[in-house]
Amino acid sequence: MDWGLKNRLSRIIQPDTGRTVMLAVDHGYFLGPTSGLQVIARTVRPLIPYADSLMLTRGALRTSVPADVDIPIVLRVSGGTSILRDDLSNEDITTSMKEAMKLNACAVAISIFVGSVHEKETLTNLAKLVSEGEDCGMPVLAVTAVGREMTRDAQYLSLCCRIAAEMGAHLVKTYYCDDFEKVVETCPVPVVIAGGKKTPEKDALKLAHDAVKHGAVGVDMGRNIFQSDNPVGMIKAVRAIVHDNTAVDRAYGLYRESAKG
Ligand code: R5P
Repeated sequence: MDWGLKNRLSRIIQPDTGRTVMLAVDHGYFLGPTSGLQVIARTVRPLIPYADSLMLTRGALRTSVPADVDIPIVLRVSGGTSILRDDLSNEDITTSMKEAMKLNACAVAISIFVGSVHEKETLTNLAKLVSEGEDCGMPVLAVTAVGREMTRDAQYLSLCCRIAAEMGAHLVKTYYCDDFEKVVETCPVPVVIAGGKKTPEKDALKLAHDAVKHGAVGVDMGRNIFQSDNPVGMIKAVRAIVHDNTAVDRAYGLYRESAKG
């Protein structure tokens, strides 16, 4: 791995803890103005001080994040479908590596849809993106998107994560599941988890806790932070779990204390 790529990765996975709190706000690329992200800038601004990186599209970045903000950017570069379609797997690469460099991204992110109609295209797109990324020192995050017909179990998610790593992904984002340590153990690159649909705050904190306990290097969490009644309290609590190994009850206390403030 060359110096530039290592340097970019080290801005995402914090060298002092080996962990990361990535804030995902890229949902609009197929969901449009989803709950909590109707006005991206308003949602993101107060959360930036507590995030290790921000995952979003080029359109959201250009319009909603001031250029002088010091936050590593994980740029979503795949898309091309909307929630109105039954098959969300028909994605292509939507943003070039050249643009990712111009936007000073620290990584690019692409979804793969293992087991879907467009499995092959999404996997070969990942492989091409990795080749371009290696040329530029740009890490690639593979997101294991799960179709409605797929089961989020260790067998399926291990398959997805391992294929992503074999295609050359430098970091993989997946879902937490029972026997999650098997997913991590069989994936030779670091794994982060998505938060998934909004759940009660304590449940989301337990998810983050269990994920890092079983080997994830952190979270790339969206809805369970920005759809919370107290997004800042929530990201502070997630941070305490990921970077300080804070227990769930204590972290939940931080969320509630912050809510009072
Ligand atoms: C997929 O839509 C995106 O990559 C999201 O950023 C990802 O699913 C993480 O967000 P959440 O924690 O809301 O699941």
